[in-house]
Amino acid sequence: MKDEKGHTYVYYSMRSGERQERKRTGCRPSGLRSAAGLRERGRCGMMPAKGCDRMTNYKELTRQLAGLIGGVPHRTANLANASALVFSALPGLNWAGFYLLEGETLVLGPFQGKPACIEIPLGRGVCGTAAAKDETQVVADVHVFPGHIACDSASNSEIVVPIHGPEGAVVGVLDIDSVLFDRFDAHDRAGLEELVSVLERELFPPA
Ligand code: SME
Repeated sequence: MKDEKGHTYVYYSMRSGERQERKRTGCRPSGLRSAAGLRERGRCGMMPAKGCDRMTNYKELTRQLAGLIGGVPHRTANLANASALVFSALPGLNWAGFYLLEGETLVLGPFQGKPACIEIPLGRGVCGTAAAKDETQVVADVHVFPGHIACDSASNSEIVVPIHGPEGAVVGVLDIDSVLFDRFDAHDRAGLEELVSVLERELFPPA
């Protein structure tokens, strides 16, 4: 469906990720994006409309994060701002935040999204698996991941990146959930691992 400027308006349901085209009415409802308009601004809506570049510019995002947290001596504040930055920059998310390791348990840290489970034992769920294996987990469909912990029933896919302390041990994870299936790919993985390396450098420096 095109408007008078030839822009196609596409709506993706936050809950199901389902694609719908809607006629433009005076005021654009939230979730409704002009593919052409978004392309001009270099970013996409909930999901890319045809021809829209959905690739997140992680180089730019990482630069922004470094500027945001550089020189700020408050770990909680920096993690809170990092979660807000990621949550607002990546389309299609319903949750983005941190779990920090305390002993054998991941404990909920700063995040954006609905309230989430507070403790995740090492090895459990996607977060616990990423931390235990010290390996980024890219899960296309969380419903088939053994032991997935469903904090928000809207989540359909997820990526979890381990965070390392100065000695190289895992100190926590960055957990990002999407309402869309198969939302994250190798580009996201590489970009988010690079972003996490800035957090490691700034927030967990050698003593
Ligand atoms: N999905 C996680 C649980 C945390 S919530 O998604 C915020 C997991 O299975 O590890």
